[in-house]
Amino acid sequence: MTITAAFRASILYFTDDPACNPDAMRWHSDGLLLLSGEKIAAAGDYHLLKTQLPPELTVSHWPGKILCPGFIDTHVHYPQTDMIASPAPGLLPWLETYTFPTERRFQDSAHAHEVAGFFLDELLRNGTTTAMVYGTVHPESADALFTQSEQRNLRMVAGKVMMDRHCPDFLQDTAETGARDSEALIRKWHGRGRQLYAITPRFAPTSSERQLALAGELANQYPDTFIQTHVAENKDECHWARSLFPKARSYLDIYDQCGLMRPRAMYAHCIWLDETDRQRMAETQSAIALCPTSNLFLGSGLFHFEPTIAAKIPLSIATDVGGGTSFSMLQTMNETYKIARMGGHYLPAASMFYLATSGAARAMQLENTIGSFTPGNEADFIVIDPQATPLLQRRSQHLNSLEEQLFVLAMLGDDRCIALTYAAGKPVIRHKNTG
Ligand code: GUN
Ligand code: FE
Repeated sequence: MTITAAFRASILYFTDDPACNPDAMRWHSDGLLLLSGEKIAAAGDYHLLKTQLPPELTVSHWPGKILCPGFIDTHVHYPQTDMIASPAPGLLPWLETYTFPTERRFQDSAHAHEVAGFFLDELLRNGTTTAMVYGTVHPESADALFTQSEQRNLRMVAGKVMMDRHCPDFLQDTAETGARDSEALIRKWHGRGRQLYAITPRFAPTSSERQLALAGELANQYPDTFIQTHVAENKDECHWARSLFPKARSYLDIYDQCGLMRPRAMYAHCIWLDETDRQRMAETQSAIALCPTSNLFLGSGLFHFEPTIAAKIPLSIATDVGGGTSFSMLQTMNETYKIARMGGHYLPAASMFYLATSGAARAMQLENTIGSFTPGNEADFIVIDPQATPLLQRRSQHLNSLEEQLFVLAMLGDDRCIALTYAAGKPVIRHKNTG
């Protein structure tokens, strides 16, 4: 294997869940990351790996910085970029007042391209290299996101929203056109370069039973596509969903009955699940996207860690912009930690970094592709500056352990700590402090 690029700094990644396996966290304080083209060739101690360096290769050396796999945001709405931080008393009025009018504009492909480009650059500036992204009901919105992602050679998962009722006419598809347009997008984009498709019924209240059934058929017909939707976010939404589908055992069961629970299905929020729901999540290997800044901002509720961990449900964390208030996965870790504390759970920093990298990859069944520095994985990584602000510099002089260093980064860090972002071995955004 030819080594084509080499980076020397501290290295952090996970081979497993640190909550279950004490050897899962890999840390090399003087580390070397070697690439072969777009892939990881090796990651380890500098003094052990330096013998593999071709003599003519220049090593990029960043003392004091941390090399980490790019963050993975498993639930985000790119069309809501321009309405982040919109005030409303809860989810349903927020959707009516801001979300639907904003999403209307994505029938215009030029607008969709412009927002998609900004959105992807904003993700990269925050160190996020893969996301599971919602478009709007318009197929053009998914085309725009994928086109912009392909131009930057990013691994993105995205889909056109399906919704055929209980929303303004100008945002409705039908059960048939929603399925037909989604299938055309799957054929066009799923597996093209680094792009992956997610079948995206918005949530049960805005889909007829027939639309959800057709989404389930598509999911069955294309088993390696993703599925993404919302469930059990807010109490009013839960009551509404139950009243619309009175035969279902629970809100989650609406999706289950339609064949929408399977590996690669990503369920956002999952605050108001019961024990039977949690068992079905685990049995079907469906995953949770916990969206802390959104849940706090919209007052949706506090996610329950202990029963989720006990049930062994694949878990990830996500921004949910525009319901979420930050694109930063470091800020998302901060709010995740506080939600865990409010429920009596303690979340170490190692677990937070795992959830934002290889834990997310595993929840998406992409752990052999992204999320860690395992040789052969794609070289999406970031250079973190743990002393990017005066306060971080000062606090960093009083660190007693690696766990404490990572914890401080998760609590005080944000986009200012992301010095460089690489996708498929190439720098995609150059920030500051890296010379
Ligand atoms: N439920 C249905 N649509 C949405 C959305 O756009 N954002 C959030 N947070 N919840 C939803
Ligand atoms: Fe959402």
